[in-house]
Amino acid sequence: MSIAEKFATMEYGPAPEDPKEATAWLDRHGRRFGHFINGAWQNPAAGEYFETHDPSNGQKLASVAQGSAADVDAAVKAARAASPKWRALTPHVRARYLYAIARQVQKHSRRLAVVETMDNGKPIRESRDIDIPLVARHFYHHAGWAQLLEQEFPEYVACGVIGQIIPWNFPLLMLAWKIAPALATGNTVVLKPAEFTPLTALLFAEICAEIGLPAGVVNIVTGDGSTGEALVKHSDVDKIAFTGSTEVGRAIRSATAASHKRLSLELGGKSPFVIFEDADLDSAVEGLVDGIWFNQGQVCCAGSRLLVQESVAEALLARVRERMSTLRMGPPLDKAIDIGAIVARVQLDRIKRLVDQGVADGATCWQPQMALPSRGFFYPPTLLSNVHPTSIVAQQEIFGPVLATMTFRTPREAVELANNTVYGLAACVWSESVNVALQTAAQLKAGVVWVNCTNLFDASCGFGGYRESGYGREGGREGLLEYLEPAWFKNAPALPAAKAPAATGAEKQVESSVPAIDRTVKRYIGGKQARPDSGYSMEIRGTGGRLLGEAPLGNRKDIRNAVEAARKAESWAKATAHTRAQVLYYIAENLSQRREDIARRLAAAVGEKQAAAEVDLGIERIFSYAAWADKFDGAVHNPPFRNVAIAMNEPIGTVGIICPTEAPLLGFLSLVLPALAVGNTAIAVPSETYPLIASDLYQLFDTSDMPGGAVNIVTGYAAQLLKTLAEHDDVDAIWCFGDEALATAAKSASTGNLKQVFTNEGRAIDWFNPKLAEGRWFLEHATQVKNIWVPYGE
Ligand code: NAI
Repeated sequence: MSIAEKFATMEYGPAPEDPKEATAWLDRHGRRFGHFINGAWQNPAAGEYFETHDPSNGQKLASVAQGSAADVDAAVKAARAASPKWRALTPHVRARYLYAIARQVQKHSRRLAVVETMDNGKPIRESRDIDIPLVARHFYHHAGWAQLLEQEFPEYVACGVIGQIIPWNFPLLMLAWKIAPALATGNTVVLKPAEFTPLTALLFAEICAEIGLPAGVVNIVTGDGSTGEALVKHSDVDKIAFTGSTEVGRAIRSATAASHKRLSLELGGKSPFVIFEDADLDSAVEGLVDGIWFNQGQVCCAGSRLLVQESVAEALLARVRERMSTLRMGPPLDKAIDIGAIVARVQLDRIKRLVDQGVADGATCWQPQMALPSRGFFYPPTLLSNVHPTSIVAQQEIFGPVLATMTFRTPREAVELANNTVYGLAACVWSESVNVALQTAAQLKAGVVWVNCTNLFDASCGFGGYRESGYGREGGREGLLEYLEPAWFKNAPALPAAKAPAATGAEKQVESSVPAIDRTVKRYIGGKQARPDSGYSMEIRGTGGRLLGEAPLGNRKDIRNAVEAARKAESWAKATAHTRAQVLYYIAENLSQRREDIARRLAAAVGEKQAAAEVDLGIERIFSYAAWADKFDGAVHNPPFRNVAIAMNEPIGTVGIICPTEAPLLGFLSLVLPALAVGNTAIAVPSETYPLIASDLYQLFDTSDMPGGAVNIVTGYAAQLLKTLAEHDDVDAIWCFGDEALATAAKSASTGNLKQVFTNEGRAIDWFNPKLAEGRWFLEHATQVKNIWVPYGE
């Protein structure tokens, strides 16, 4: 018998990890945990506990406090009380604390890994070699950011008290992703771990105490969704950072709309795993194993949709089946195990239900022959082929070890299929051709694209989604910005509430033959001036109540037409940054030529002095964004792999912009220009007090080579038009600058497809101060970062 034959006949023996230290830790706590509030363990106010179990054998591990609103309140108060001192520490001192946490995580890494595996069911190989090392890396990296904070973000301050809610799939890693940047930037936190997996967060609380972290800086409150809800609704929390299901993300968006809480959401995904015919198929199969069977497929960025080029589909699927047959499923503490337990019965039932529905929809289900352990929640690796793109298993997140396969013929079809989802978290592309791989990566709507690799994460690279996968990033510079605010903005005074438009007298039927008093203003859609759909207009009065003219009263249909035009204006997004810059410079040139005329008309509404300032600063502002157009570029990260991660600033897409009332020209330019500069298309609603500025603006755009549809202008009542824009599924972001009520309306109406919302929170912005009213803060809101990971070397 040859060595190879002998090797093939050898049986695996179990190689169990010893849980002794972990159980000793549980025993030391009497297998019962309170909350960690203000640096000490505290019993739950209502005296309620719930049990957490090992999903691989059903054994109870411990009782854990069920957090009530009173517990959450105590934790938020502790975080608030700790905030001024923590924030006032020098960056170096905060850096030392983060470094101490990183070191302590490393020193206790094995215990953390074992507790994680026992609580969650994931293979020890993964918790030991992936989760915990990444946790340490996150704290190291952010110790560095804490050190550099004042140099790198001189104009920014911490948000304050952060409420953080995390899921059960990477319990300690998600904690690290949330707590490390929050602490590095000077915030204090209240974190609620998932009810299925609270233990490593409690072990982490102990680490905070061990390293002497000041009391109240990190508070851990355990409990279920109701505890999370209490945290979301607490009035003294400045920001909520959430990772979990899209459904709960939506509920949190609604619940926070009427507050000034900032929000970042990392939600679900249905990530495509695209294999082209020229890919190295063996590597792609190994990638796939990581992509969908890592952590039993309970991964938000799991490559759960296999899209394979038809010519190699059969060959690939044969190799996939063969590889699946060698995967080992069993007790997760066994070091030789590839697939562990599903986190809980409810999740197992959900996986079974979705697979049954997929089969009923016509998919073919294949599973390798493997014995399921007699106890615990296990589900075998599963391959679904012949999946129709509209089937539930191609559209919904299963969050289990289930791969749904579809085929494509051309790269174009691959991109269409890949983007045919409401999500946009991650994607994989496998091709030996650098052109095909990068061309595809550029077209995918996803926050992370792995080229010829999969599931690589690092603290230096932002992670987060497009579309209904959420907004905000974790990791990297962009992740830090989620926990910082411009100091001036945090302290800006509130704008007075806008007066409601007069119910009568303000609307008046326009007869086609009635000329406007000053000049005729129309809508501007798809590069054309068009009559309003409603046939109504609003009277515009200037200083002293003089009638200046009438602006069309846009309605839903106008907005829908404008959105359609903006969607079609792809040439703008595809134009080079240099081209965009040239067009913007040209707008400035044209504004400069019409300076006197425009200022004279505007003066009737805002007075001569302001009008002159708006035009002059407007020219400067356009120049600024023309300058930025080819300079607001990304970065190349150096994660600790043989890999580069190219971080690209991509436009968000189509942005609906409600312009401020107080500076009709300058306010419009201050918002529309940054959106356009980076390649978005826009539908803008100009200042309600002087919408007549629209006619000057569209003449500028018309004479400046701006492609039709890149910018569209609809005049009318902001509150009404905002609602249609925010509810429109083809609008990707809402920028809304008005009073507090308008900001709330923008956030509430945007929950449907989870648009990003950028508002002034009802605060006054000094549009005449270039230090505040232009630059990176606006450009950051106009873009989303896509990280494209490309391996190199052997
Ligand atoms: P979930 O979204 O309900 O739970 C995540 C966290 O949110 C937990 O800590 C939970 O206690 C908390 N929570 C629940 N309701 C809340 C509320 N109304 N307000 C504030 N916090 C609340 O996710 P669940 O039920 O554990 O899993 C259901 C599905 O969600 C999974 O099958 C999967 O498809 C998806 N999911 C996605 C994750 C991701 O990383 N993107 C992580 C976990 C689940």
